[in-house]
Amino acid sequence: MRTLAVLAVLVSLAAANTIQDCGLTPNAVFHDASVTPDPVIVPGPMTLKFQGDLTADWPADMMIMVEVIKEDPFDIEVPCLNGLGSCEVDMCAYITQYPEAFCPLFPPEVPCSCSLLAGHYQSDGFTLTLPDLGEGIDSVIAGGYHGNVTLYSKSAPETLLGCVRFDFQLEYVPPS
Ligand SMILES: *[C@@H]1O[C@H](CO)[C@@H](O)[C@H](O)[C@H]1NC(C)=O
Repeated sequence: MRTLAVLAVLVSLAAANTIQDCGLTPNAVFHDASVTPDPVIVPGPMTLKFQGDLTADWPADMMIMVEVIKEDPFDIEVPCLNGLGSCEVDMCAYITQYPEAFCPLFPPEVPCSCSLLAGHYQSDGFTLTLPDLGEGIDSVIAGGYHGNVTLYSKSAPETLLGCVRFDFQLEYVPPS
């Protein structure tokens, strides 16, 4: 019985959402990140919180590359669909297009613009709504995912400037 209880704890730990810095970029470090709810429910809202410290200014031509792998029944890269999935996006275009979502992340002393100056950035909750794609599709997309978000300058894509990796479970709960 004790073995079973320990196993249950290990399994639930393994199933928990995690998001953490890759540890590869000393000038940009993310911490205290979380993805809720745990597991993420589709359809429904998913909230991302994080804090990040930039010890050097970032160039204005930053790109954000998201890579998402679905794990079961076998690893497969999730394509980019309507901005969700494995997408490469221009950070400046996002900041310009969605200032109400991005400007609150900036430290009070840093103006909200495409040049991210050194400082402490913090998201108290960035919410994304996972759409209802219909039971047939939603039950197929349920499962385990992992991946990463990498940041680099468009003019020097081979130099990694920031990186976080994540793991999360997606569960399908039919709307009642
Ligand atoms: C990001 O994830 C992809 C897909 O799993 C992997 O090929 C790549 O090496 C990862 N990059 C980093 C910097 O961890």
